[in-house]
This record gives sequence, C-alpha cells and structure tokens, in this order.
Amino acid sequence: MEPIQLWRIDLNPPEPRQTELERWLCPEERARADRFIPPEIRRRFTCARGSLREVLAWSLGCRPHDLRFAYGEQGKPVLADQPELRFNLSHSGERALVGVSWQRELGVDLEHLRAGVDFRGLTARFFSEPERRALSEVPEPLFPREFLRVWTRKEAYLKARGTGLALPLADFAVPLGELPSPRELTWTRDRPEEAARWPIQEVPCEEGYVGALCAEGPEWHAEPVLPRFWAGPGVAVEMPNGCQDPWLRTP
Ligand SMILES: CC(C)(COP(=O)(O)OP(=O)(O)OC[C@H]1O[C@@H](n2cnc3c(N)ncnc32)[C@H](O)[C@@H]1OP(=O)(O)O)[C@@H](O)C(=O)NCCC(=O)NCCS
Repeated sequence: MEPIQLWRIDLNPPEPRQTELERWLCPEERARADRFIPPEIRRRFTCARGSLREVLAWSLGCRPHDLRFAYGEQGKPVLADQPELRFNLSHSGERALVGVSWQRELGVDLEHLRAGVDFRGLTARFFSEPERRALSEVPEPLFPREFLRVWTRKEAYLKARGTGLALPLADFAVPLGELPSPRELTWTRDRPEEAARWPIQEVPCEEGYVGALCAEGPEWHAEPVLPRFWAGPGVAVEMPNGCQDPWLRTP
C-alpha cells in the first residue's frame, strides 16, 4: 500500500518563485486572490494554490495549469477530471500542508501557535465533554500546544469528511497527546462505527506549528515528501520553496 504523501510548503518564497506559482492559477483563482486586500494574504493564497497545483501535477504527470478543480457541497476541492486522486490542503501563517493519496479520502490541518488566544474559552465553547475533561488536567504551560493538537485533529477529521461545521464539533472526541501513528476517535455521540473509520495522526512540524492528518481507515501510513517542484510532466526537482527542516530531510 502506498503511503499518504505529506508535502510541506513555504508560503513566502523568493519573489521570482511567487511569480512562477501565480502563473499556474486559473482566472477564477486569480480573481479570488485579487479580492484579498492585505498583500500578504493574497501572496499566501496564491503560493498555496500554485504549490497545490504543482504537487498534483507532479502526481499525475501533467501541467499545473491544466488541472480543473470542482467543489463539494461544503466547498471541499476535488480534481474534476481525476477525482480518484485525493488531496487536502491547509494553510496557517507562512506555511501550508498538503496530503495526497490515490487510495483514500483524507483531510489535513495546520495551525500556527499564536499568543493572546483564549484557549480555555475556546475549549469550553467548542470541544466535546471527553476532550474538555482531558484538557482540564493539562498544566498551563503545555495547554496551548495540547489545545492545538485537539483543534487540528478535529479539523482534519471534518476536512476528511468534507462536512465543514455541518458536523457538530461537540459530537466526537479525538485523542490527546503525541500521536506518531494513526489512532481512532475516542468517542462519538451516536455513530460508534465512525470512530474506527477515520484514524488520525499528528504531522510533525517545525517549531510553532501543529499539524494533523485524518484519512479513511483501517490501515494506512503517511510519509513526508522531500521538497520538489514541478519541472515538466512527471519531472520533479528540488523545491526552492519547500520548508527546509530536519523532518523533511528524513527519508
Ligand atoms: C475549510 C474549513 C473546513 C477549514 O478551514 P480553515 O481551518 O480555516 O482553513 P484551512 O487552511 O485548514 O483549509 C482551507 C482549505 O481547505 C480546503 N477546503 C475548503 N472547504 C473544505 C471542506 N469542506 N472540507 C475539506 N477541505 C476544504 C480548501 O483547499 C481550502 O483552501 P483555500 O481556502 O485556499 O481554498 C472551514 O470551512 C471550516 O469549516 N472551518 C471550521 C473552523 C472551526 O471553527 N474549526 C474548529 C475546529 S475545533
């Protein structure tokens, strides 16, 4: 079974690379980019979409601007002409994470750890009872990271299922703590079969970021992909805007 590929992307590459990534966008994506007023938000969207197109083109052996996206009811993008290639994207701060699989539906989430957020208030407001109970035992200095672990895992699950917030956040619980390999949901309100169907694992990230992957089970494993960029159909070369960190360098 092929591993799920995890691509990490720098959303602030040098200027020439930004221009190159923007070239891959279709007119609708350019129009969407132009609606973002702050220039850094425009840049991040453009680089994320351009990089997503490169990653998918590399998997399919085609050209990034030839890809056509279609959107599910809640906005989840799929490839209009190759729906069997599953993928999902998340961006936060200056980084993006893309998961790709030929075999199974998946969702990813990435969050940048920020100061000044009322993590305890968000816990009380959004999380399920088992999650609130487990988090109440986490000491203060560890709380923000543990909160983000829960948040990204919940979000990855919602994104794998493509439901967005149509699925109530308090109706299921994810495991806390380190999660180097896939684990089931720990609780669901009324659909116990869902727990084993959508295992979740942590995605190792550089300092300041927390990531999660959820994919349809039962058995899968995920691997980071070395940074590459599209250099022609089926050709990939070392990626100038891939995040350079030890995790990515480990084969
Ligand atoms: C898309 C959604 C599911 C996640 O949004 P987000 O966390 O703000 O953003 P991310 O960067 O992780 O993901 C955005 C990407 O997911 C993809 N996406 C959009 N809708 C999606 C859906 N329904 N399912 C899966 N993926 C989706 C797109 O590629 C999108 O990228 P784009 O904005 O460049 O087009 C959002 O609609 C949502 O419902 N967010 C819930 C927010 C929340 O309160 N979470 C609480 C978690 S405890």
